[in-house]
Amino acid sequence: MPGDLDSLLKEKRIFKPSLEFVKDSNIYKWMEKRNIKDYDELLELAEKDPEWFWDELAHELEWFEPYTKTFNWNPPHAEWFVNGKFNIVQNAIDRHAHGEQKDKTAFIWEGESGEVRSLTYKQLQMQVNKFANVLRDLGVKKGDTVSIYLPMILELPIAMLACAKIGAIHSVVFSGFWAKAFQERINDADSKVAITADGFTRRGKQICLKENVDVILENTPSIQKLIVVEHAKIPIEMDSNRDIWWHEAMEKAVFECTTEEMDPEDPLFILYTSGTTGKPKGVVHVHGGYGVGVYTTLKFVFDIKPDDIWWCAADIGWITGHSYIVYAPLMMGATSVIYEGTPDYPDPGRVWSMIEKYNVSVFYTAPTTVRMFMKFGEKWPEKYDISSLRLLGSVGEPINPEAWIWYHEVIGKSRCPIMDTWWQTETGMHLITPLPISDLKPGSAVKPFPTIVADVIDDDGNSIKGGGGHLVIKSTWPAMFRTLYNDPNRYEAYWSSFKNTYLSGDVARKDDDGYFWIQGREDDVLNVAGHRISTAEVESALVSHPGVAEAAVVGKPDEIKGEEISAFVVIKENYHFETSYETVLRHHVRTEIGPIATPKYIKLVGDLPKTRSGKIMRRVIKARVKGETVGDTSTLANPEAVKEIEKLD
Ligand code: WTA
Repeated sequence: MPGDLDSLLKEKRIFKPSLEFVKDSNIYKWMEKRNIKDYDELLELAEKDPEWFWDELAHELEWFEPYTKTFNWNPPHAEWFVNGKFNIVQNAIDRHAHGEQKDKTAFIWEGESGEVRSLTYKQLQMQVNKFANVLRDLGVKKGDTVSIYLPMILELPIAMLACAKIGAIHSVVFSGFWAKAFQERINDADSKVAITADGFTRRGKQICLKENVDVILENTPSIQKLIVVEHAKIPIEMDSNRDIWWHEAMEKAVFECTTEEMDPEDPLFILYTSGTTGKPKGVVHVHGGYGVGVYTTLKFVFDIKPDDIWWCAADIGWITGHSYIVYAPLMMGATSVIYEGTPDYPDPGRVWSMIEKYNVSVFYTAPTTVRMFMKFGEKWPEKYDISSLRLLGSVGEPINPEAWIWYHEVIGKSRCPIMDTWWQTETGMHLITPLPISDLKPGSAVKPFPTIVADVIDDDGNSIKGGGGHLVIKSTWPAMFRTLYNDPNRYEAYWSSFKNTYLSGDVARKDDDGYFWIQGREDDVLNVAGHRISTAEVESALVSHPGVAEAAVVGKPDEIKGEEISAFVVIKENYHFETSYETVLRHHVRTEIGPIATPKYIKLVGDLPKTRSGKIMRRVIKARVKGETVGDTSTLANPEAVKEIEKLD
């Protein structure tokens, strides 16, 4: 954001959580029992002996067979909870559904229309077991992949958990992507079974899914069956050989279902995320380490207690939703709110009215949403009683101090600490984050989670303080991704720049107190409203249009969304657009990738700045878009292209 870096560098305020809050926190009580006197001592002990820390936490979960070793770390490969037997669903559902917790509400779901559904742990188990049997009956076995393209409805977590229960690997595709993305991911994962819905509503408008899935399934040879959830009641056609209604299959399914005993290292899911090339990366997470990692971070960072009502307002189609809507809260036995719709629909009071209605006590969202609500003004939250809140969270992008303060004062009533959690699809769990016992600095993600060794280094790998550098991780952690599906070399690439060190792709600064300040991506990945989008993916969508010869995409700083997509395109000679090129190309990118990747700005140019070897110099365009000086252009083959871009408004 413009000027943001300056305000981050000047930020000196410190916020201390109240003593009462600290003493009541899960982490404080855990430390008290072990005679650990403060935050610094906790971090020191955990870093010295990560095995001790994770072994203690793993013992809070149920294992079919105990592990013999906490971890083996042969960078870049790790193995956690060696020789154990585990299933994340045993811990997320089965152990609660049999015990005292069985009638506790697991999920309260609210649709955009205001419809409410809820499931107790017992009812959730019933649904998951039945759906697991539906999958088994279709021949889905341990190790098979199932591709899922569902909106934010309860059938989504049910489908994911059913896969995990029988040892199948789910691959969820965000329903805001166009179906083409589903096609690519089905083919990469080679799934036999896919799951979708008729459609969903967004801001009161119906959006079809099944209709578009029918088209892409012509290009997915592995798919044998498509399970369809009836949700939006959109009329659709069913292929009698291939398509199965969810509700019909569930009616026939039986409840009894055994939970597969998995090796902790067996894959749990694949989740595709954007990298620096056009091809998305299939991040692979496993049952054991991922389970222990997300459970522990939710317990200690968000301090979830039996009476809390937790609302992680992300989409399940992203890692935040996988980890902190589906798996971790269930493993904690918590009650969570899931909301289907847009946070400001039908008016900007929606979120606050839901916090009041459900007595939400811990709320987790992205800075983009906070900034949007800041713009709508205090009058919206003031209409509702949101005093049930006790703790707040932020994720997905750097939170600027102004937004942090607003969130703290207006939403948190100057009482609720803010957990600014830094992590990634690859890390699976929070890695740099405050704990409820930490002193907070607005805009800083504070310090590494216990046992995590994080650093900021220069190009030669030397640790630096004060200035910006590469944010790296030098330890293993249980929820780390184990590979990239079908692409192990690209997995190794994360560790190839610096020895035994994970390169995050973010730039950060470490201050004199050891606090981390994340500044944003250093590679060609954009962060638009907290969503990772690769410039290469948008560029390849643009050049797939018959009228486009070349395209360069960069991020343009934006007050609300952090960045907006800005595209520069060269049109093919003699090509005529029927309507405005902007409308046509925006629509084209929407249907190639999805609404989140639609460029806000599209400019026509005669040429793009290139090196003599023909590579597009995105750096030069980026500088221009950010209003910075362009810098050295001596290696350019066509300096006049820069002049042309400079003339654009
Ligand atoms: C950014 C989302 C600053 C960062 C969980 C990272 C953040 C990318 C923060 C991962 C934060 C995430 N402060 N930046 N608290 N959290 N990011 O894979 O650039 O969708 O690399 O995972 O989001 O995005 P991803």
